[in-house]
Amino acid sequence: MQGLIVRGYGGLPCAQFHLLRITDRAAARRYLRTLEVTPAEKPASAREVALHVALTADGLRELQLPAEVLATFSREFLEGMDEPSRSTSLGDDLENAPEKWRWGHAERPHVMLMVYAVSDRRLEAELRRQEAAYGAGLRLIENGRQETRQIPDQKEHFGFRDGISTPPVAEFGKRDGNEFWTTPIAPGEFVLGYLNEHKTYSESPTVPLSAPGAADLPPTVENVSYPAHPAADLGKNGTYLVVRELEQDVPGFWRYMAEKSREGGVAPITLAAKMVGRWPNGAPLVTHPDGSTAQSSNENAFRYAHEDPDGLACPIGSHIRRASPRDQLGAGRSEEQSEQMVRKHQMLRRARTFGHRYDPSMDPREMLAKAVPTEDERRGLHFICLVSHIGRQFEFVQRAWIQSPVFGTLYKDGDPVIGGRRKYPDPNINDEFTCPARPVRRKYKHLPQFTTLVGGGYFFLPGLAALQYIAREHGA
Ligand code: HEM
Repeated sequence: MQGLIVRGYGGLPCAQFHLLRITDRAAARRYLRTLEVTPAEKPASAREVALHVALTADGLRELQLPAEVLATFSREFLEGMDEPSRSTSLGDDLENAPEKWRWGHAERPHVMLMVYAVSDRRLEAELRRQEAAYGAGLRLIENGRQETRQIPDQKEHFGFRDGISTPPVAEFGKRDGNEFWTTPIAPGEFVLGYLNEHKTYSESPTVPLSAPGAADLPPTVENVSYPAHPAADLGKNGTYLVVRELEQDVPGFWRYMAEKSREGGVAPITLAAKMVGRWPNGAPLVTHPDGSTAQSSNENAFRYAHEDPDGLACPIGSHIRRASPRDQLGAGRSEEQSEQMVRKHQMLRRARTFGHRYDPSMDPREMLAKAVPTEDERRGLHFICLVSHIGRQFEFVQRAWIQSPVFGTLYKDGDPVIGGRRKYPDPNINDEFTCPARPVRRKYKHLPQFTTLVGGGYFFLPGLAALQYIAREHGA
């Protein structure tokens, strides 16, 4: 299995992703067959560089995968992120519409090459090596060179510590006891061919047993998804990879906080923290309602249902509460029911930031003090997540929790940090943010949009045997 499934490469801070189109099928196949993808087993000490590869449905078509094999991939993957009805339901319309994207719509990529390295020098050297290797077989699409730039202390561009909460998977190792989930999440939620939280196997692409190359793949396991349907499992040890390039309006974000603070009420950094659900240093609002600790925090074992049922500390509509409502889904569900449901909508996040910092200090006080009204610099997040079921995991979270105006007790709000805004007279208006407080809550109306989607796609990250199958000669 590719190592990206089990680790985010915190120790390899430099990364670049190449979005590519196949220009010469035979050369592209050769490149993919000989690519030294980093396996999950490779120990950290032996790694200065890591290489990963993922393909879109268009890429698999271009490589002439037999139609009967292609048809076994998930519908979301086959249709793509920019399929029109999907765009509307994900909030990828209006400002976020695919027609405005920098990549992923006018020209969809076929292949994504992901290169991680310990230093800029090692990254550059590896990129040159890969560019020479894919040579005439593949070419970069427009805006297909995705540069990344890590911010110290795991910060994202608004100035908040990110990548703290991650679903624990026993089989992937590394548990630190500082987790919300007391029992690990089943590996089949994040990698195909293993039992998932439904105690079955997520639908996986297959190859008929009689087809050329099938003998090199493992057989499917008989289960409720494939009763008595033996085939070779092309999905085993692979997964789906979701990419969304999100630009962040950092001056706009902090200008808004300053403006609202001047109108009375909470301090600007407190309002921003209320929208995120954590303080800039990572400390959760639930356990630190009145201010954060001085040091960076990875605290993650907090709960909502008893500690903060009304969202007085961490608003119900904050980004982290929407993205993973933990033990409080609302609508009369018990804690246990909530946890059972929320477990089935987790994602392994592998995001990387891009662009220069708005202020080198990344200190929100400095960002607030900066008078620059607007700025040309592009910065943001390459949001990347791994899921075995795009519809049940990424799309459900994005549609039902991030974008939906109806969430818990809310009915006109959307995710305050990353939501696409629908404004009056749209019947699905979601441009408010409700901040519960005593004696009266505070409502922020007509919220601006702080992030914009500028590209995206659904990819298949194959297991190592599946990559060899994909790269073989399939005939016309
Ligand atoms: C520019 C865009 C984004 C920014 C700035 C951002 C920022 C953050 C921050 C600061 C945290 C808290 C740190 C942590 O718990 O790891 C967080 C958590 C999280 N975010 Fe985002 N995020 C962005 C996009 C997204 C997207 C697109 C999704 C999914 C659709 C998402 C899902 C999550 C999840 C699942 C968590 C963890 C929640 C928990 O378990 O408590 N984020 N994000």
